[in-house]
Amino acid sequence: MTVIRFSRGVPPPEAIPAAALAELTAAIVAEHGPAMFQYPPIGRHLGDPRLRTLVGQTYGVDPDAVFVTNGSLQALDILAAHFLDGPDKLVYVEGPTYDRAARIFERYGARVVSIPVAGDGIDVDELRRRVSDRVPDLLYTIPDFQNPSGVTLSEPKRRELVRLAASYGFPVVEDIPYRELRFRGNAPPRLAEISSDANVITLGSLSKVLSPGLRVGYAITDPDTALRLAERSEGIYLSPVPLSQAVAAEALAGGLVKSNLDTAREFLRPRHDAAVGAVRALLGEALMSVPDGGYYVGVQVDPGTDEDTFVEKAKQAEVALIASSAFYPRAEMGAYERLFLRLPFQSLSPAEFRTGIERLAAIVR
Ligand SMILES: Cc1ncc(COP(=O)(O)O)c(C=O)c1O
Repeated sequence: MTVIRFSRGVPPPEAIPAAALAELTAAIVAEHGPAMFQYPPIGRHLGDPRLRTLVGQTYGVDPDAVFVTNGSLQALDILAAHFLDGPDKLVYVEGPTYDRAARIFERYGARVVSIPVAGDGIDVDELRRRVSDRVPDLLYTIPDFQNPSGVTLSEPKRRELVRLAASYGFPVVEDIPYRELRFRGNAPPRLAEISSDANVITLGSLSKVLSPGLRVGYAITDPDTALRLAERSEGIYLSPVPLSQAVAAEALAGGLVKSNLDTAREFLRPRHDAAVGAVRALLGEALMSVPDGGYYVGVQVDPGTDEDTFVEKAKQAEVALIASSAFYPRAEMGAYERLFLRLPFQSLSPAEFRTGIERLAAIVR
């Protein structure tokens, strides 16, 4: 039996245009070699101006509001340092949430509290109760095809979340690396598009639309905050990598990102449909939502045992899994009623995915 790996959210090679990127890189090096291999400017440097202009155009914002980093996770780390500097900080996250994000907030010493996610996103009634109890220093959400659950936040809930952020005055980070990987239907507005009364910072990434190896991500915020983030980053790594940024800019300007997105969507759509079909057929009600995009299907199951035993049973059945704990704040470990499982479909053929679900179904009550 081969092991079915439900353990990682890495793009499949089919969704990375390696040959086109190599060509483009060679052309950039031939034309701008010396600048590409020199230190980039420092002194509150926000990133490659051409890249920031292109990102700014995409989002309809001033390039001075765009702060480029080596991958969006780095932007999140610097934002966490910015917002969580000082004692007794509180962050609300979705439960489940992106594991690395929760670990970053914890590393900065914040208290991290999760708000449950349903099929249409975070429970805004619970959020309202929580913020009236205590206003957080930050709310972190992945509103589109969430990692790990695949859930998309509905438009009415988006509006209520933004209304709460504006009226209670807490900043929101919307992390949207999967947003463009929509297979069907229309996207609800980004949180930052809903109202300028709320402080919403958008985190974007080229990892899932072009290449994760380039390590190009960005934060969109107000120009003053962008400069403050740049100041912090300079003390850590001086600046993002010039060559990667130039490649990203050319891929955006020349249409490679767009054509690769089409390729990735075509490749992923049948995998998504087959994955949803297999989960529905074999795990039924456990399915949290039909994502219609992204990389992940999420399920909540009654394991009939504790989490470690369940993961071990899965391992014996040749299924590699990351279960609930990783996707919740550490302080909440073991506090959930049902076990959450993230089922990434992007790197498994429909047959492999189904085999994995058959093996899981045999050990779920
Ligand atoms: C929700 C979320 N945020 C951020 C990242 C990290 O992206 P990047 O490669 O841009 O650092 C990922 C990667 O899987 C992710 O799923």
